[in-house]
Amino acid sequence: MSTVIDLSIVHRGAPGGEPLLRADNLVAGYLPGVNILQGCSLVLHPGELVGIIGPNGAGKSTLLKALFGLVNVRSGTLTLDGEDITNLRADVLVRRGVGFVPQTNNVFPTLTIEENLQMGVYQTPAVFKERLEVVLDLFPELTKRRKQAAGALSGGERQMVAMARALMPEPSVLLLDEPSAGLSPVRQDEAFLRTRRINRAGVSVVIVEQNARRCLQICDRAYVLDQGRNAYSGPGRELMNDPKVIELYLGTLATDVDAARATADGDGDSHPTDAKDA
Ligand SMILES: Nc1ncnc2c1ncn2[C@@H]1O[C@H](COP(=O)(O)OP(=O)(O)OP(=O)(O)O)[C@@H](O)[C@H]1O
Ligand SMILES: [Mg+2]
Repeated sequence: MSTVIDLSIVHRGAPGGEPLLRADNLVAGYLPGVNILQGCSLVLHPGELVGIIGPNGAGKSTLLKALFGLVNVRSGTLTLDGEDITNLRADVLVRRGVGFVPQTNNVFPTLTIEENLQMGVYQTPAVFKERLEVVLDLFPELTKRRKQAAGALSGGERQMVAMARALMPEPSVLLLDEPSAGLSPVRQDEAFLRTRRINRAGVSVVIVEQNARRCLQICDRAYVLDQGRNAYSGPGRELMNDPKVIELYLGTLATDVDAARATADGDGDSHPTDAKDA
């Protein structure tokens, strides 16, 4: 049976002030003449945890890759701290404080955990020791296994190594592509809780997730992406209870939401049916 973990968070609307990361009307794609992103916009304010959900093929991973310089942006602009970063290379973005964890192939399997983490700071090797200590503090499970090959790890452990590696250069923005994919329900809970812990440690996060309800629960705000365009956006809990979003994107979970509302009435923090969708 799945454990019920309280994933509640105080939800905020978009705070005022300059966004840390801002995407305006991004148009991007892989093949000539085929645009996957057809005018996507997104803002991430300092300290925010922002979710991106949407159906398969909506362009969620493409958006993250465009934010990280891995897909050519054909039009639109991308700024970090007010400065234009459109189409800058990934290694330059890492130096500017952006980290990215792809969904798959996100560790070097023949290298040890420690060597994987070393790769995270290959541009600034002098900080390795100091950062290793900080990062292993966030992932104590990795400490005693640091000499093991990453290829020998479970999916959940690999995901941890990939996140830890991305955190090594001390990013201000972390882009996560489906950190809970392929994990058991308990490991999924851990991945969400870890994401929130990293966010609370001061890292602004954009998280793409298949597990839409869980994502909406932990994030401050979220965007629903459909066919390369923004469909809905707002505070996570608001979207989770929006009948249109439920009907179009959360599907059969509508009854769960109703049940959760009835049970959690007056409480707002506890969602006893959450374990069902794991
Ligand atoms: N490397 C690529 N070359 C060509 N087309 C691609 C490539 N990667 C993705 N696509 C296409 O781009 C579209 C959006 O894919 P993307 O992976 O961004 O969607 P997604 O929302 O992340 O989907 P999922 O929920 O399945 O991860 C799809 O039609 C996909 O086939
Ligand atoms: Mg994807």
